[in-house]
Amino acid sequence: MATPSVSSFCFVILLCSAAAEALEGGFSVELIHRDSPNSPFYDPSETPFQRAEKAVRRSIARIRGLRSNDEGEPSAGISRIDGEYLINITIGTPPVSIMAIADTGSDLMWTQCQPCDVCFPQVLPLFIPRASSTYEQVHCVSDKCHLFEKTFCNTQGFTCQYSAVYGDQSYSEGNISTDIIGLSTLMGSAVPFPGMAFGCGFNNDGLFGIHTTGIVGLSAGNTSLVSQIGGNEGTLFSYCLVPFFSTSKLTFGRPLGPTPNSPFEVSGSSGPGAVTGNMIIDSGTTLTWLPSDLYRQIEPAVSAAIDLPRAKDPIAGYSLCYTSSGVLKGAPSITVHFTGADVVLNWYNAFFQVKEDITCFSFAPTDDLPIYGNLAQMDFRISYGALLFQPTDCAD
Ligand SMILES: *[C@@H]1O[C@H](CO)[C@@H](O)[C@H](O)[C@H]1NC(C)=O
Ligand SMILES: *[C@@H]1O[C@H](CO)[C@@H](O)[C@H](O)[C@H]1NC(C)=O
Ligand SMILES: *[C@@H]1O[C@H](CO)[C@@H](O)[C@H](O)[C@H]1NC(C)=O
Repeated sequence: MATPSVSSFCFVILLCSAAAEALEGGFSVELIHRDSPNSPFYDPSETPFQRAEKAVRRSIARIRGLRSNDEGEPSAGISRIDGEYLINITIGTPPVSIMAIADTGSDLMWTQCQPCDVCFPQVLPLFIPRASSTYEQVHCVSDKCHLFEKTFCNTQGFTCQYSAVYGDQSYSEGNISTDIIGLSTLMGSAVPFPGMAFGCGFNNDGLFGIHTTGIVGLSAGNTSLVSQIGGNEGTLFSYCLVPFFSTSKLTFGRPLGPTPNSPFEVSGSSGPGAVTGNMIIDSGTTLTWLPSDLYRQIEPAVSAAIDLPRAKDPIAGYSLCYTSSGVLKGAPSITVHFTGADVVLNWYNAFFQVKEDITCFSFAPTDDLPIYGNLAQMDFRISYGALLFQPTDCAD
């Protein structure tokens, strides 16, 4: 079965060539950190340290969410959906703005729609399918319906319905539909992608803030926005996170700028001595959660290398904290050994200043699914397909 691609959905020639052209040249869209000035959640009265503390607390809640989630396999990867990054896209004709949680851990893209049985409160207007001239509902015998996990047939209209339950019991149910998805590029133009399949949710609830309207799944899975845009040919897709709490970039097609000379190709394992292939690379989690046995080997080595006064952990998510501000003096060089490559971290990939004078080791132990969090990813361009880590100044 073919993965949806731009060409297989092309029905408006002009739009298709616009999309193809944009992909050819490569383009970037904003990945909005929820505490960055571009975010609707931004609170200008907060200090950077208050933001840091909240991010750490969310990270702890996210890993706890995973822990309580032993029975039901979540249909959508990571358990807590209130992740760290947002994406602003448009749907339909005329285009309607939606602000979704950008989730690299799941693939379904959905937004709240009218008429709605249960919708969590949102600031932006609900998407109204019948107001969009390019909206279509997917039939349940369609290939597009079977591409999605957990779909079933609405016997009244023979239309395709989905049901997504996340580990924290947040959920969405609705109609699998297609419409034009518009992405605004950082260069200021809007690129329309026709015929993108998404969920039009009419029964949604959970841990969603009022400034969000749903989720855009950005995993490598078949139905994610990036896979639909990229098609089978494996269009390059990458993201680059800017430290800290800044608007970052999601890049489609070729990344702008010179070709990397030494990208690290990794295949997602959690390090020496651990089972391979079991670590999630998650932009929605701030800390990095290592298997406890691995963490227990690393902590003494880190602690031995740093000759600074120890500080009490101010948030209770850490074990190694130091009295220090700015660059952490004597921070050991840490190399993450993935299968196939070594990723050499910057000091700020592994240490996080959480108070005016306290900096902590941002790796923590877990007995559940290990997660390579977003602090560890800052200033690396992370490409999908063959997973590549490329040291980059993401603010450029
Ligand atoms: C989302 O994008 C639209 C244009 O596509 C823009 O008008 C709107 O201000 C953006 N919203 C936010 C919160 O950035
Ligand atoms: C979902 O599909 C059903 C059956 O076609 C339809 O009655 C309902 O209005 C649709 N809901 C939304 C939100 O589009
Ligand atoms: C993608 O879809 C095909 C066909 O349904 C399926 O065989 C394959 O396992 C899917 N791949 C992923 C990563 O979900």
